[in-house]
Formats: sequence, C-alpha cells, structure tokens
Amino acid sequence: MIDLHSHILPGIDDGAPDLGVALEMARIAVANGVAVQACTPHIFPGLFDNSGPRIRRATQELQRHLDEEGVPLRLVTGADVHIVPNMVNGLRAGEILSLADTRYVLVEPPHHVAPPRLEHVFFELLAAGYVPILTHPERLTWIETRYDALVQLFRAGVWMQVTAGALTGAFGRRPQYWAERMLSEALVHILATDAHGARRRPPDLAAGRAAAAKWLGEEEAEQLVSLRPRAILENAAPSAVRPPAGASFKSPLIGKPGLEKETPSIDPRSHWLGARLGARLGARLGARLGARVGGKPSARAGRKKEPGLTAWFGRFF
Ligand SMILES: [Fe+2]
Repeated sequence: MIDLHSHILPGIDDGAPDLGVALEMARIAVANGVAVQACTPHIFPGLFDNSGPRIRRATQELQRHLDEEGVPLRLVTGADVHIVPNMVNGLRAGEILSLADTRYVLVEPPHHVAPPRLEHVFFELLAAGYVPILTHPERLTWIETRYDALVQLFRAGVWMQVTAGALTGAFGRRPQYWAERMLSEALVHILATDAHGARRRPPDLAAGRAAAAKWLGEEEAEQLVSLRPRAILENAAPSAVRPPAGASFKSPLIGKPGLEKETPSIDPRSHWLGARLGARLGARLGARLGARVGGKPSARAGRKKEPGLTAWFGRFF
C-alpha cells in the first residue's frame, strides 16, 4: 500500500515530536503493509513555517535513519498545504511541495470555517495544471452546510482524500458518517492515514482499507490505497486513472437522488445512528431468525439478513 498523507517527519509540525516516534510510526506503517510513505508536514504560515527545501532535507535525513535501521519504507516528499495566497507561485518556486513533485498536491481547507472563495482557490490550481487533493473533507466541521460545494469541486476535477481512521470511527461518529457517505457516493479517490504519532493518530491504513472494502469491495479498496496512489506517484493524467466507484449497498439515506441539495436540512447524526441501530437490530433479529430456522444462533445468519433489515429499520430513525 501507499500512504500519501502523514506527519512523520520529526520535530517539524504537530506530528512526530522526535526521531524515536518517527521510527516507531514507520515500523507501524510497514507492519500495516505500507511500502511507500509520503512525508507531508503542514505548510501553514505563522503556525508551521515549513518550506520545500526544509521538507526535502528532513525527508532525506529520515530516509537515511530508516535505511540504517533496516526499516523497508520508501519516503517521498510532499506537504499538507493550508490554503494560502499565491499557492501556484509557491508551488512553481519550490516553496510549496506537491506529492513527489508531481501535479498532485494535498490542500487542506480551514477546519472550522468554509472560506468564502473556496472554489476559486481550487480552480486556480486546476487552471495551472495541478490536481488539488482536498484532505479529510469528512472531518471539516462545515461539511453539512457546504456539501454541495465539495461535490461541485469533485465534479470540477478536485480529488478527495478521506482519512483511514475516520472510516474506522477513530474520529467519532460524524466523520465516520461523512466518510462512509462520500465513499458510497463515489466521491473519494484515495484513503490515507494523516498519521500524527505512534499512539495518538497512528498510521492505520490496513484498518481503513478493511473498512472501505466492507462497503465497496476489494477492487475499489485496492484502488483507494494502492492503485490510485501509485498513479499519483507516476504523475499519471487524471483522465488515465479509474474514477472512484460507489457502493452496491446503500443505506436508505445514502444515494437518494438529489440528496446533496437536501443536506443542509438533515441532521446526519440521527441518520447515522439510525443506520447503525438498524444494523444492530437487523443483525440481532437475523441471528434469532437463523436460530429458529437452523436451530442454532449463527453470526452468519445475522450478517446475511443485515442489509435488508438495516434498510427496513433505518426508515424509522
Ligand atoms: Fe494532515
């Protein structure tokens, strides 16, 4: 697998505080099955004043330590770029780094406030020949009110990166709901860890991949963590890359025609809870039914009944 978002470089932002933690993170990544790790520290003027040359030096240094320690992880450069003025100039000048010096660049919108000219920033990058990858849309606190804007950006050619931990519930129910929903609606290009440490927010790509596979199947899960990330590192044209595929099973809410227009008036948590509760009740009822029919409670019977019953129960929450 290839993880294209991490704060593994030591002492450069709010990620790994020192070399020891960075090496521990690298070992966890390798144990997860990651072969290539992008080092993408924040570039956030005034808070994390990182520059292209500094990130390159720190990446080379960490690679040297990994090689000495025999950790089989290949590092590539990048940055988690907060929206700043003149991004295109910064990229051209080498002060801002794209992923492995390709056309693909991680762009982090403000977490709590949707910037008024959000679309403009992304269109400028697209017009200059870059492919912006919007990081962790599922964790933005304003996603409910501006989901339509995110969908528009996707349609305009912006790529979306969902956090592996969001899919496993590590960030709570709300980001999990949005991560699942965006995956189901075929709006997600890649999964990445955005790892910040070895214990708090560790590199957990394998668990994220497994969660995605549950929703989308093995083929699309592989696209999310291996094939599309590899295409990015090869600087492939977006038109040459397979677009995201949605889920075959959809909850009563997800995938409803015109849903994105209704989003602001929907409290996603209630629907998320409905779907979860429905799944639990469905699984339990399914197991009971299995017990009646087959004589013995079986988890398999529960799983088999789950999707239909989930849909049925989901209508009432
Ligand atoms: Fe990040």
